[in-house]
Amino acid sequence: MTLLAVEDLEAGYETGQVLFGVDLDVEAGELVSLLGRNGAGKTTTLRGIAGAAEPTILGGTIRFDGERLNGDPPYRIAQRGISFVPEDRRCFPRLSVVENIRLAINHAEGPKDLKTVLDFFPALAEMRDKHARNMSGGEQQMLAIARALAANPRLMLLDEPFEGLAPYIVRNIEDIIADINEEQGIAVLLVEQNVAAAMAVADRHYVLDEGRIAASVPTERLREDEELRQRYLGV
Ligand SMILES: Nc1ncnc2c1ncn2[C@@H]1O[C@H](COP(=O)(O)OP(=O)(O)OP(=O)(O)O)[C@@H](O)[C@H]1O
Ligand SMILES: [Mg+2]
Repeated sequence: MTLLAVEDLEAGYETGQVLFGVDLDVEAGELVSLLGRNGAGKTTTLRGIAGAAEPTILGGTIRFDGERLNGDPPYRIAQRGISFVPEDRRCFPRLSVVENIRLAINHAEGPKDLKTVLDFFPALAEMRDKHARNMSGGEQQMLAIARALAANPRLMLLDEPFEGLAPYIVRNIEDIIADINEEQGIAVLLVEQNVAAAMAVADRHYVLDEGRIAASVPTERLREDEELRQRYLGV
């Protein structure tokens, strides 16, 4: 079943149009990546789906579970079952791990309970009273994902969750994302520039180039097709 269907999405900012007819689908329970160079329009696509104030949607449709989403405010989209983890991670620096998760629970409709979330993140459970501002980048990323999980979504949108993290923490977060997908059955749309990490967790990849989908390939193809990687991803 198609959970998220983005069709012919056109979007942009005051300074100009950025997305030109983006088509992408995520099936229920699927883990898909959206790859592309700096400025390709990856964040714009995720923000468009999440209903952020910017970009402006100029055309096309975004459907979730068959219902049209575009035009809905972000809190409605979240209530329908889409959790967005933006690039800046957005944890509350002066609040503890538990307080951060509780806030996410309080703002959600039909959330998971605190124990379920902490059981899923033993490393966070061990630092439950630590303030987010005293946590490492990897720990904050984990907390941001825990907050998204607390909302009990059907689809998680992750914007470059591996950015700026040491390789062993990248593997740790890869495992968490894979578990969220496999054990919890949550579909994931993962935006990445780290092609190796995206190939490690996702089965299927969209390649965005200058606001257009340039390719849609399974992991095998992406691994073998060096020309495709060179041309659009520079790796
Ligand atoms: N708030 C904004 N106002 C105006 N232009 C913007 C804004 N945000 C992004 N853009 C422009 O839109 C284009 C796509 O940006 P976007 O952030 O979606 O790319 P990206 O693929 O996420 O890149 P990165 O890998 O660097 O995060 C870029 O040309 C960027 O300069
Ligand atoms: Mg981005």
